[in-house]
Amino acid sequence: SGGFVIAVDGPAASGKGTVASRLGALYRLPVLDTGLLYRAVGVILQRAGGDLDDVEGAAQVAAKLSPVMLADPAFRTRVAGEAASRVGAHPPVRAALLKFQRDFAAQAGGAILDGRDIGTVIAPDAPAKLFVTASPEVRAERRWRQLVGQGEMVVLSDILADIRTRDARDAGREAAPLRQAEDAVLLDTSEMTIEQAADAARRIVEAAR
Ligand code: C5P
Repeated sequence: SGGFVIAVDGPAASGKGTVASRLGALYRLPVLDTGLLYRAVGVILQRAGGDLDDVEGAAQVAAKLSPVMLADPAFRTRVAGEAASRVGAHPPVRAALLKFQRDFAAQAGGAILDGRDIGTVIAPDAPAKLFVTASPEVRAERRWRQLVGQGEMVVLSDILADIRTRDARDAGREAAPLRQAEDAVLLDTSEMTIEQAADAARRIVEAAR
């Protein structure tokens, strides 16, 4: 059932989103940035005056999430990434977002999903799995550039601290922790340009086709 699925996982600002969108353009496959789902849940919950530790409240927001709600640029901020990581630790939130992600992965023409648990939980049978990573310092610099480019006033050392906190929380949680699937290919982009990372990703996918 379904077409060719590419799972792209990795920590914050590793380059997985860029790799996923490049592969999407190359193979003409739809791409789902699953981090956006968790970001949306966190931001919408907070806007409604809810608490990020309120598991039931967060799960209710997750259950009502629809694709048209995902276009909000507020989901791209530093605060939204932090909120996403907090609500992403709640198993009922993950359960509520599962069907949407599985349905996206099951599209007849195939699909690419990027996130933390695509290769391990969402699409364990995906024929192509990449685990994209880079050193915390490189990732902090990339995320800092991106946020500054969006007009956010942020300090690099704060972003590095965020990255370390987020890595620890995402890898240490009980529910679908961030880890490389056994059959995923590691792609360390620390020393790579976007072009080099995209090319390396393409070669990994070609080997799996
Ligand atoms: O990738 P991005 O930085 O947008 O993800 C934000 C947060 O959402 C992550 O730190 C993680 O806690 C959570 N997330 C997740 N599972 C995914 C995607 C994101 O738990 N598949």
